Amino acid sequence: MDLGLSGRSVLVTGGASGIGRATVEAFLAEGAAVTVLDRAPKPEDLDVTWVRGDVTDEETVRSAIPRELDVVVGCAGISGPMGQDAREIGHADFTRTLEVNLTGQFLLAKHAAPVLAGSTAPAIVFVASDSGFVAAPGMAAYCASKGGVLMLTKALAVDFRSDGIRVNCVCPSIVDTPMARGDLGDAFDELDCPVLRPEDVARSILYLASPASRGVNGTAHVLDFGGLATSTFPA
Ligand SMILES: NC(=O)c1ccc[n+]([C@@H]2O[C@H](COP(=O)([O-])OP(=O)(O)OC[C@H]3O[C@@H](n4cnc5c(N)ncnc54)[C@H](O)[C@@H]3O)[C@@H](O)[C@H]2O)c1
Repeated sequence: MDLGLSGRSVLVTGGASGIGRATVEAFLAEGAAVTVLDRAPKPEDLDVTWVRGDVTDEETVRSAIPRELDVVVGCAGISGPMGQDAREIGHADFTRTLEVNLTGQFLLAKHAAPVLAGSTAPAIVFVASDSGFVAAPGMAAYCASKGGVLMLTKALAVDFRSDGIRVNCVCPSIVDTPMARGDLGDAFDELDCPVLRPEDVARSILYLASPASRGVNGTAHVLDFGGLATSTFPA
């Protein structure tokens, strides 16, 4: 399938690592021109434009937007306080998690939208999580932030429809990245559930970013091996 992404201008946040990095490589393989906004330094082997900065800084986000832009992928994210009961989470940790995972996506979309409006096939794809639908213990800040991204996706799809800008999100379960390995430690290698590869998520992101999905707008694309579809009914 021709994704129609060759020659497109793409901005990816969080492109230094994990899902973001796999997404950058997938866009490059399709012939897109990629700009990355990440707080981490540019890996030497990536042929992209690099803006080093924080997605929560509005001026940084504004200045990272290229003059021409077709696709934006909001992938930068943090785990926040993990394994902490909600009664123990500090105000600053909770707020910072929302700042990066939710406000960062809003700022990105806000400043990208005026430029995306000039594209023939504009699209925004956010990386949310299955944690936007279901909660595990000790993840209140992360779950709240990702639930917010699900609703932000719909709200922006409605706001931006008049400019033809589609807004969708992907919701993966556990992905083999530095974030998940850091959160789970030794337990990562003993997981008894299937684990996604970053490339699995990147493929879904590219589809949602592509004119091939032109009718898809305001949706959450879940990659979880059927986890959310599974009932607790003891059959
Ligand atoms: N790994 C998983 O199991 C999993 C599952 C579902 C969703 N996600 C989501 O996928 C996205 C990518 O996660 P990952 O697992 O690839 O993690 P990762 O830690 O490998 O990569 C995250 C990237 O985001 C960048 N980043 C973080 N905070 C930033 C900030 N404030 N400003 C700019 N850049 C920042 C980091 O430098 C890094 O390059 C996140 O939004 C995460 O919540 C991950």
